[in-house]
Amino acid sequence: MRLLQNLRRTATICACIAGTLTFAETATAQAPDMPGQALAFDRAKGNCLTCHDIKGGDAPGNVGPPLADMKKRFPDRNALAAIVFDETRRNPLSVMPPFGRNLILTREEIESVVDFLYTR
Ligand code: HEC
Repeated sequence: MRLLQNLRRTATICACIAGTLTFAETATAQAPDMPGQALAFDRAKGNCLTCHDIKGGDAPGNVGPPLADMKKRFPDRNALAAIVFDETRRNPLSVMPPFGRNLILTREEIESVVDFLYTR
C-alpha cells in the first residue's frame, strides 16, 4: 500500500516536471503572440508562409502577394475573412486553398487568423 502511494506520488511529480519542461520548450520556441499567428504559420494548418511573405515568419514563399498593411488595405474585415474562407469566389483560378470551404480552418480559426493579419 505504502509502495503504491509512493509510486503514485512519484508519477505525479514526474508528470508535473514533464509539463513544466514542455511549457518551457513552447515558450522559447518562437513564441507566437496570438493564436492566429500560430495557425497562419503552422505548416499543417494555415501554411500561409508557403505563398505569402508575412512579417515575423521564416522562409516565406512568393506565390501570393506579401500580406502587409492589412488593416489599411482591407478595412472590411468580412471581405478579408471571405478571402481566407474561399479565395476562389473572387478568383476562380486562384491557387490559394479555400481554407474554410475545404474545412482546413474553422470559422473561429479564420477569425483568429484575421485578428493576426490585422496586426501586420
Ligand atoms: C498555395 C499558395 C497560397 C497559400 C498557402 C495561401 N495563399 Fe493567400 N493567396 C495566394 C495567391 C496566389 C493570392 C493572389 C490572389 C489570387 O490568386 O486570387 C493570394 C491572395 C491572398 C490575399 C489577398 C491579398 C491581396 O493583397 O490581394 C490574402 C488576404 C491571403 N491570400 C491570405 C492568405 C492567408 C491568411 C493564408 C493562410 C491561411 C493564405 N493566404 C495561404 C496563394 C496562397
